Amino acid sequence: MSAPSILMISGSVRVGSVNAAVIATAAALVPAGARAVVYAGLGDLPHFNPDLDHDPLPAPVVELRRLIDEATALLVSTPEYAGAMPGALKNLLEWTVGGVETTRKPTGWVNPSAIGQRSAGTYASLRTVLQYTDCRVVDAACVDVPVPRALVGDDGLVQPGLERDAIGRAVRDLLAAA
Ligand SMILES: Cc1cc2nc3c(=O)[nH]c(=O)nc-3n(C[C@H](O)[C@H](O)[C@H](O)COP(=O)(O)O)c2cc1C
Repeated sequence: MSAPSILMISGSVRVGSVNAAVIATAAALVPAGARAVVYAGLGDLPHFNPDLDHDPLPAPVVELRRLIDEATALLVSTPEYAGAMPGALKNLLEWTVGGVETTRKPTGWVNPSAIGQRSAGTYASLRTVLQYTDCRVVDAACVDVPVPRALVGDDGLVQPGLERDAIGRAVRDLLAAA
């Protein structure tokens, strides 16, 4: 049997993204015997269009679906934009509605938002969308870990401390549920 793997997705394509740092940190904390795959194609996905959802599929969609198929579990970290999840992440999730098996795929998230309502509405709607796509949301691996930007080091990782420990726990809890 191949090693369990987590496909890790940041909802931000911004250079210097805190969410991307959280994802990179989660990948670095995957324990021995498991594997992390950091998704890098968010910015390349075409807008979801049912008219495009047939062979030959756009190459970025083929790649996304292959990575999801191969993953044992999914982990997301996303910012909130204008009171909701970024359109790019919703777009990715729309491409998972058909043509890829997400049924019961264990899924968790790390919410690093440190301001205002801490993106509560975004993560509530992320849960709704993930459940719509039949992912299995693993509550133990859905955590709020406020990460101020200053906590991201020059190496692009969340620096050692309580926040980093909490990210590592979410990764382990997700693998335990997978
Ligand atoms: C256009 C725009 C809209 C935003 N809207 C919200 C919002 O509605 N709620 C919120 O808490 N933060 C909002 N933010 C702040 C971002 O969520 C925050 O800067 C986050 O850390 C960005 O994540 P990143 O560093 O991974 O790119 C917004 C930022 C931008 C640029």
